[in-house]
Parts: sequence; C-alpha cells; structure tokens
Amino acid sequence: MELHVVDDARALAVAAAARVAAVVATRPDALLLAATGDTPIGTYNELARLADDGTLDASRLRVAQLDEYLGLGGDDPRSLYGWMERALLAPLAIEPARIIRFDVTHDDPTSAARSYDAQVRAAGGVDLALLGLGPNGHLGFNEPPSGADAPTRKVRLNPETLRSNADYWRDAVPERALTAGMSVILAARRILVLVSGEGKASILDRMLRSEPDPGLPASFLHHHADTVVLADRDARPDRTPHA
Ligand code: PGA
Repeated sequence: MELHVVDDARALAVAAAARVAAVVATRPDALLLAATGDTPIGTYNELARLADDGTLDASRLRVAQLDEYLGLGGDDPRSLYGWMERALLAPLAIEPARIIRFDVTHDDPTSAARSYDAQVRAAGGVDLALLGLGPNGHLGFNEPPSGADAPTRKVRLNPETLRSNADYWRDAVPERALTAGMSVILAARRILVLVSGEGKASILDRMLRSEPDPGLPASFLHHHADTVVLADRDARPDRTPHA
C-alpha cells in the first residue's frame, strides 16, 4: 500500500481524477467501482471538468455501484444511485448499459447481491475501485467485523455509520443496505482510497498501523497488490513527508 499526502481537498481531487483518467487512457472501457460520500465529490467534479475539456474520454467507461440503501423505491432521489447519477453518471454521460446497479426492488436481497456479482464477473471484474474510508474503518458498507472474503450482501449499518449518514438524511436514516463485498473490492486490479479532513485522521492512522483485522475492514488493503491511499494534510498531519 502506498500513501501519498497532498495539501488539501482540492489537490486531492485533482490528483485522484488524474489517476482515474490515466487508467481510462490505457483502458477506455475500464470498470470503475465508484464510492459515494462527501470525499469523492470533488474528484467527480474534476473528472467532469476533464471530460468537458477533452482530456478524459469517458465514452466507453463503465461504472459499478459500491453500495445502496434498502427500503427506498428504485428512483428515490435519496438513493445512492440518485447521488451517483447527479455527481458522476450524468456529468460523464454514462448511459444505463454501462452501469452495474444494485436492484433494490428485488424481493430477495441475496438474489440481488448474486445478480450484482454475476454482472461484475461478466464485465471482466473491477479495474479501479475508488473508495472512501468510513469513520469506523468500513469500505463500502462492509461494517466491522468484515473479513477479506465477505461477500456482496445485505448488511445492517452500524450506529457510527448511521450517525455519519444522518446529515445527509435529516429524517429517518435507512438502516439496511446492500454492499459490494470485501471480496469484490479486494479483487479489483487497482484500488484508490481517498481520505480527507481531520475527522478521518485517527481512523487513517489506525488503518495504516493495523494488521489485517476484520474489526477494521480497510486494514485488508495492506494485502492488496496495487492500493494507493491519497490523503490530505488534515487527514494526515505532519506524520509523513509529501510523496
Ligand atoms: P465520506 O464517507 O466520504 O462521506 O466521509 C466515507 C465512508 O463512510 O465510506
């Protein structure tokens, strides 16, 4: 695992978007496993800018959802799909045929999870996973404890995740979700983890020091062959030199 520290959230977005664009330049139909959340929004804005100015050709890029709430209608604007549509899919003009989405209308979440995995497999697997780091060390909604082999599945969100999601929801925060499993994330050819802000400094420090541990799912990234962690100075104050 490589750690790169940049000055601020803006530099993080520029550096992350450049890395995504480099993958797409070598593999135009790359499958991007894309996180939602506060952290990646700047990166998605920057990707849209690169597409607008012709630096990024996203016309063949494919995108897979990382996680999704259960209990909402398929077109609920509060869904993570709705968020991703506004932040990434519409700005980059990714049409439905190039999107792998959780079917939350399915009666049986286990079948929805199997169908998601089958689509990722049929697409040739994930080329780049763009992830955030949860306040409790989760990746996607792989809440602690989650082992490296945790499958794509229905999960119940931890109180800490519910608290961090509450700002987004204001009213009742959904407590159940589907998440790409740790097994899907760790099978990605490349992983890029974005960590921004002082609120993430202590979990980032724990993750960097931790042995692989289901109590801190992001610690399994130590075993992944091509993981880059991009952090800003607030999330990694004065512990490491600039990379
Ligand atoms: P954030 O979420 O980017 O909104 O901080 C990260 C996460 O919880 O996975």
